[in-house]
Amino acid sequence: MKQGDTKMAKKDIDWANIGFGYIQTEKRYVTNFKNGEWDKGGLIEDPNIVLSECAGVLQYAQTAFEGLKAYTTVDGRIVTFRPDLNAERMMDSAKRLEMPVLPKERFLEAIDEVVAANNEYVPPYGSGATLYLRPYMFGTNPVIGVKPANEYQFRVFATPVGPYFKEGAKPVTIKVSDFDRAAPHGTGHIKAGLNYAMSLHAIVTAHAEGFDENMYLDPATRTKVEETGGANFIFITKDNTVVTPKSDSILPSITRRSIMYVAEHYLGLKVEHREVEFAEVKDFAEAGLCGTAAVISPIGKIVDHGKEICLPSGMEEMGPITKKLYETLTGIQQGKIEAPEGWIREIKVK
Ligand code: PLP
Ligand code: COI
Repeated sequence: MKQGDTKMAKKDIDWANIGFGYIQTEKRYVTNFKNGEWDKGGLIEDPNIVLSECAGVLQYAQTAFEGLKAYTTVDGRIVTFRPDLNAERMMDSAKRLEMPVLPKERFLEAIDEVVAANNEYVPPYGSGATLYLRPYMFGTNPVIGVKPANEYQFRVFATPVGPYFKEGAKPVTIKVSDFDRAAPHGTGHIKAGLNYAMSLHAIVTAHAEGFDENMYLDPATRTKVEETGGANFIFITKDNTVVTPKSDSILPSITRRSIMYVAEHYLGLKVEHREVEFAEVKDFAEAGLCGTAAVISPIGKIVDHGKEICLPSGMEEMGPITKKLYETLTGIQQGKIEAPEGWIREIKVK
């Protein structure tokens, strides 16, 4: 099915100018867990949820989510990027939060169904926008003693999005945060809603001070780089090695894992996934944020309590290695560059 056919007619949205916000689409997927099993599930139209006032999610924040995107390729197909890794990470999140695991195949089918049913909202190739998918799971039955719920809902909705940072591809300015987003031995490595609640005060504070994002340091010693509230870091050394921080309390970003593969196998660069001392940051040539929402957003400046670290790549554009990584990654997502086996899942629109 090609664009222009009736079924692929697109919604009248100003794709090039949408930001990273919620635009309600037509169909969402819902399945409920009760008496120890998931029901059949399916697409519904109602975007609202009616819940017990005492639902586990409302009292003790028992919820986890995922984020991935659907892309229109250069040849007009609709694809998702490595959704199997989102399914696996959701399983890890569910286990850590004492929620039931949704089988991988169910997760993948739910994503396919939501994308296909909302295909008119998948932004056209080259528009700069994508269809963001938000799978999430939460405890639904009343829970008042501190314990896991025994009934759950898993949902997936879709919303078209543009760039995560208002600057688009322009370098952002980051603040070294005085707050922590995760505890040692806590939940930083899973996509628990509670991690994001933890980061809200920190991001509001950073924005009020004129920064785009926070750099969180390791909560135990505050000497090592962790991540931001919604993306991992990548750094490029002066001799073009790609360095990404390793820690048990950061989210294992699928974008970061993909960038490391692309750097090594497509661009022939050296890659290091290791602890990164904050003291090293001043010596890097380029820095960026990476994630589904952030894609690869270059960092121009990092400010540590008034002390500025200005990356040599400057405040105007991406550094050259960051740009190559960006072009290769997005080229794969858009079907312009051949993907490694299993990275691209094509969605059939009926
Ligand atoms: N780190 C955090 C805290 C995130 O919320 C995200 C977004 O999902 C990422 C990193 C990037 O992960 P991914 O590349 O899998 O989207
Ligand atoms: C994503 O990149 O999918 C995320 O979940 C980040 C989110 C904070 C918008």
